[in-house]
Parts: sequence; C-alpha cells; structure tokens
Amino acid sequence: NKGNYEHYMQKEIHEQPESLTTTMRGRLKHGGSCKGKTVLLGGLKEHIKTIRQSRRIVFIGCGTSYNAALAARPIIEELSGVPVTMEIASDLVDRQGPIYREDTAVFVSQSGETADTLLALEYALENGALCVGITNTVGSAIARKTHCGIHINAGCEIGVASTKAYTSQIVVMAMLALAIGDDAISSQARREAIIDGLFDLPYKVREVLKLDQEMKDLAKLLISEQSLLVFGRGYNFATALEGALKVKEVSLMHSEGILAGEMKHGPLALVDENLPIIVIATRDACFSKQQSVIQQLHARKGRLIVVCTKGDAASVCPGGSCRVIEVPQVEDCLQPVVNIIPLQLLAYHLTVLRGYNVDQPRNLAKSVTTQ
Ligand code: F6R
Repeated sequence: NKGNYEHYMQKEIHEQPESLTTTMRGRLKHGGSCKGKTVLLGGLKEHIKTIRQSRRIVFIGCGTSYNAALAARPIIEELSGVPVTMEIASDLVDRQGPIYREDTAVFVSQSGETADTLLALEYALENGALCVGITNTVGSAIARKTHCGIHINAGCEIGVASTKAYTSQIVVMAMLALAIGDDAISSQARREAIIDGLFDLPYKVREVLKLDQEMKDLAKLLISEQSLLVFGRGYNFATALEGALKVKEVSLMHSEGILAGEMKHGPLALVDENLPIIVIATRDACFSKQQSVIQQLHARKGRLIVVCTKGDAASVCPGGSCRVIEVPQVEDCLQPVVNIIPLQLLAYHLTVLRGYNVDQPRNLAKSVTTQ
C-alpha cells in the first residue's frame, strides 16, 4: 500500500522518521539516577562479552548493506577498540580470505536471503567465527543461521532500491558500538551524547526531508547529465558510495562515489566545467580537509554541489560559486543517516523525471538469491 505516495521508494524515503523510531524502540534507556543512559540489544545479551573480547570484527555484506556497515565502522572502532575490517561478501568467498575463531563476523542484509552473503556466512561458520546477523526479515536464512543478531525493525521495504533499511542499519550498528563499548568509563560522555543524538534523530530526519522540492529542482538541472561524482570522507565516505549507488541503480545515470582523500590520485583528472560533482562537507573532524578539497575542485572550475551543515553555506562555497544543500547537524557518527536523505531524494526525482521505473529498476531484483 503506497498510501498518498506515487511510488514505494518515495514512501519509504519519507517514512524514515517512523522507521528509525521503530528501530530504536525499547532499545535505548534514559537511565535512572545511578545508571546512566544505556543500550539494550536483547538478541546479543549472551554474546556481547565475546564480541568485546574478539580479536577483530569483520563486517560482511553486499551493496547498500555493505555501505551501511562502512558508515558505522568508525564508531565501532572508536567505542570498542577492536579492529574492524570490511568484506564484500562475494569477494571474501572468491578469495577464501582469512576468518578465524577469534573473529566476530557481522552479516548485514536487509532481506536476510542474499546468496553471496549466505555463502560468506557458511564460510565463516566453517572457520569457527562468532556470527552475528543484522537483518530486516525475521526468520530469514541469515537470521536463522547466525549465532545471534539484531533485527533492524525498519518495516517491510518494497522498492528495490534500499532506503529506509540503510538508515536503520546504520542506527542498529551505532547501537551495537554503544553496547560493545558499554564497559568503558573513559567514553561514557561520548556514548551519552550519541544516545541523546539517537533520541533526536527522527526529528532531524523529518527536518531534512523538507529538502524534497530543492532536490527535485536539482534533479531538473541534472536530468540530461551523463555522469555524477560524489566525494566524501570519514563517516561520509559511505554516504558518497551509497549516494552514487542510489543514483546509478534507479536513474540509470552513471555515478561514482569517491573517497575525497583519493582525489589527487586519479579522479582529479575528470574535473572540468561540465561534470557535476557533489561534495559532502558537513561539520566533523574532516571538515577543514573537505574545505580544501572544495577549493581545489573550484580552482579547476568544477561544477560543485556541496552538502553542508546548516549555516555553513558561506564558509564552504567560495564566492557563492556553487550550489549548496544545507542539512541539520547531528552527532558526527549519526550524520550519514541525515546526509544520505537528500541524495535518496535526488535519485528518486532524477528517475521519475527521466521516465524510468523507480520501484523496479531495469535488470534488478529486490532479493538477490542467486550468485
Ligand atoms: C541497493 C540494494 C542492493 C542491496 C544488496 C544486498 O539499493 O538494494 O545493493 O543492498 O543486494 O541486499 P540485502 O541487504 O538484502 O542483503
């Protein structure tokens, strides 16, 4: 049921304040006077100590689910102190890469049925790792075959392009970071700030959804382009990859997410006055580096569209020369949840304006159950 919306993708983008609320329901505790704010993940209760003590945490997934894990990686590393590595499921299986008994392998999958991810799970089980599932489908193969897990609770997602599951996955993994780091006094203030940020997040997402018309206007401007680059770094490297994935899979426009730190190592050669480039430059520890990326792109006459924190337009856009999309600020590790939304809206509007099927893109299936 699409309700008042024309497409499932549009409905699912706009229902993110609610899906995020459902994802967090019953899992965040304000705490009484003696016990501070905490996170409760029922499905992991018996295993959290083992995860904390593991030698390494390996995230495994495909497509958007991989990108969600990439967005959460920095906060998991920061709060757990455990090294985190990333694996695209098919690549891990192709390489028969090393997985050890002392590893925690976390499988991220909206459907819980993706063949590549399932194969990687079987491989990790054979190698004796503790296997954790993060899925949106109760009773799915990945939910059943993992040792423990966290349900995403984002509600059924029908559009082939994953939108609300992505933001809920990031929130689930931020809560996982909080749960793993729960015993460290040194990071208590940081953890409480993130928990406050989580409580506030649905309101901030509602605010950023008001950019709908602005993103439609931008889509009109970009409708006939051949290609679109998206630059991000730090927490928002994932935003660049995921934004580009959304644009290419539904609007059928070539798009590439680029780690801004790699700009000088090749991509800079593409920059001219025609190719549109989105730069994610919201406030966090990488902000000044992104400002200098913008200056360098600007010096090469790049056609820039900058996603920045509210009020920062003048400081990110030299001489008013670029288009600016202002988003509300949240805790740095939650910023990818907010920042992806204008790009989801852009992908949606580009597709509708270009006349393609937004809910069922050419050649794609919602659940990829073959290799
Ligand atoms: C992109 C998309 C795909 C899936 C990928 C993994 O919008 O939906 O990239 O994310 O096929 O699917 P799940 O998460 O079901 O394992």
